[in-house]
Amino acid sequence: MKILITGGAGFIGGNFVHYMTKEHPDYEIVVLDKLTYAGNLETLAPIMDKIKFVKDDIADRDAVFKLFKTEKPDIVVNFAAESHVDRSIEDPGIFLKTNIIGTQTLMDACREFGIKRYHQVSTDEVYGDLPLDRPDLFFTEETPLHTSSPYSASKASADLLVQAYYRTYNLPVTISRCSNNYGPYHFPEKLIPLMIANALADKPLPVYGKGENVRDWMYVEDH
Ligand SMILES: NC(=O)c1ccc[n+]([C@@H]2O[C@H](COP(=O)([O-])OP(=O)(O)OC[C@H]3O[C@@H](n4cnc5c(N)ncnc54)[C@H](O)[C@@H]3O)[C@@H](O)[C@H]2O)c1
Repeated sequence: MKILITGGAGFIGGNFVHYMTKEHPDYEIVVLDKLTYAGNLETLAPIMDKIKFVKDDIADRDAVFKLFKTEKPDIVVNFAAESHVDRSIEDPGIFLKTNIIGTQTLMDACREFGIKRYHQVSTDEVYGDLPLDRPDLFFTEETPLHTSSPYSASKASADLLVQAYYRTYNLPVTISRCSNNYGPYHFPEKLIPLMIANALADKPLPVYGKGENVRDWMYVEDH
């Protein structure tokens, strides 16, 4: 079994690569990552001899097709994304390119070269918010998409494209929409490491209440 893990130098992707090398030592693992500000090769340093690392962009069609032709992966798990809500408010363009065009590019390569499974790592942010005073409510797979930032809109767009590739081309796909994760290798701009780092340094903790401005929510909504 050969598995291509994109975004494997990031927070969750990196943890997944560690998990897979431990739990499935018989798998061949190829990691594709552009190494943006969020990627950190140090995360993979202890297991570098167990994987193949390729530095490239999931939205670069030539590079992705070349990689598929050479490696012929059985499974693709796509963690690669621009993932910071605040950055998406500053500059949506790169979010659309990586999160939507990158997803399309990977799935086109899956169609061209064949695949057992394409898995899209998405986010609960595609459902928007639940009212704080209604703990009885929760998201289900039937909850309508209700995006609130360029980040979540780009992730929802990618999800719709993944579903379309299943319906149109019968590509074997799955999508998961997890909530906030935290743990080892977390980038320090995210809520929990930011709070811990600031608290340890006796700095103010930047939690904002509900305001008129969407940016008042930037830390609490940060997936
Ligand atoms: N962190 C969370 O709590 C959370 C919650 C829900 C969903 N998600 C989703 O999980 C996935 C992983 O999130 P994360 O927090 O680990 O993100 P992250 O920002 O820590 O890592 C993203 C990785 O993708 C790489 N990357 C970015 N653009 C790329 C491109 N064009 N081509 C190749 N690689 C590229 C980066 O270099 C980085 O290594 C994302 O799809 C995100 O939307 C995250």
